[in-house]
This record gives sequence, C-alpha cells and structure tokens, in this order.
Amino acid sequence: MLERHAIRNRGTATHPLVHTVSNLDAEGTPSGAVKSTQWHSDKSFRPAPSMATILHAVTLPPDGGDTCFANMYAAYDALPEAEKKALDGVQTVHSWELSRENIGRVMSEAEKRDAPPMTHPLVRVHPDTGRKGLFMGMHASHLEGLPIDEGRARIEALEAHATQPQFVYRHHWREGDVLMWDNRCLLHHADTNFDAARHPRVLHRTCLRGTPTR
Ligand SMILES: [Fe+2]
Repeated sequence: MLERHAIRNRGTATHPLVHTVSNLDAEGTPSGAVKSTQWHSDKSFRPAPSMATILHAVTLPPDGGDTCFANMYAAYDALPEAEKKALDGVQTVHSWELSRENIGRVMSEAEKRDAPPMTHPLVRVHPDTGRKGLFMGMHASHLEGLPIDEGRARIEALEAHATQPQFVYRHHWREGDVLMWDNRCLLHHADTNFDAARHPRVLHRTCLRGTPTR
C-alpha cells in the first residue's frame, strides 16, 4: 500500500501519493539546493516507517546527482560482539522536527502535530528475513535513557562506521531508471556531486507503507 507524504511534500491534486524530488525553485529554475543529502531511512519518524521507496529518474544532470545506499545488515554484522550486546534493546528517538532544524528549517505547529517524535529499536530485526540491522539516519535524534549529547554522539559514531565505503553502493542514474529499495535494512542519501545551480535533477518518488518496528 502506498503511503501519504508529510504535509509539505504532498504530491499534486491528481497524484497525491507521488511526490517530485528536485532542485528546482517555484519558477522551475535550478536553485542550487539538493534535498535529502544526509543519510536516512525514509520516514523513520513515523510509527510504521516506510517499508520501501520507489524513485524514478525523470531529468538528470549531465553527470553526478547519484544516490548512495548503505547496507545496515553488513554494518551491524561488522560490529564487535561486545558492541552488539551493548546495543541490544537500545531505543532511538526519531524526530522529524530535529532533522528539519538540522537543515535550517523551523517546522510549523501543524507539521509538528503531523509528525511527533517516535521511538524505534536501534538494532532492528527485519520482519521478513529475521536479520538484524542498524536503524538510524538523519531523523535519529538521541537514545532513550542516555543524556541527549551522549546518545547523539553514539548515533554519529555508529553512522560513521555504517557508511564506510565497504558498506555503500553508489547508483549512477540514467534517465528512466526506476529504483526500489528496502528502508528496513538500508540508509540512503543524495550526493551533491553535480552543479545544482545549473542543471535540473528531477525524480518522482513514492513510498510503500511499512509495519511497526517491534
Ligand atoms: Fe529519502
């Protein structure tokens, strides 16, 4: 089942579940700004974060504008056993409000009501494969039961570990490509490796609704 988007990202009246990802301003001119450049799992701030995302490349820059994916199973598997034990049962608070603040945007009261903070296990068991993977990204704010700074530092260290080159696949888009990925075991982000003030990069996006994380 397709998932509704956050208030600000709703699609058009005719296609409300398909949202356009682009670097264009209201006049359709490249703005220089690229969205979703930090590692994340789509809608991890929801009670049932997106199961999968489908992205369709409509208009691409001459090169660059890649999307990168990091394998959270492999990142978890590579942790020392003592660390895996320490992470067992740890809960992460995901906050869309915080992640918007981090990119310099203050949310409206309606947006905050639409997406209150949500708690998910830091080590998530995939409901289909039974494998464990790290579940975090840019919406992950802090860890329950730890001082905020300490939890945040822990998340940052884990993300630095989990996004090392050996865990990452980089997709060089070709026009017309359609990618579908599993948000339950991957982080992703858009790379800014193109001239975003000059070239348009337009993709269509929709998400498949997920299930609760425990
Ligand atoms: Fe995304």
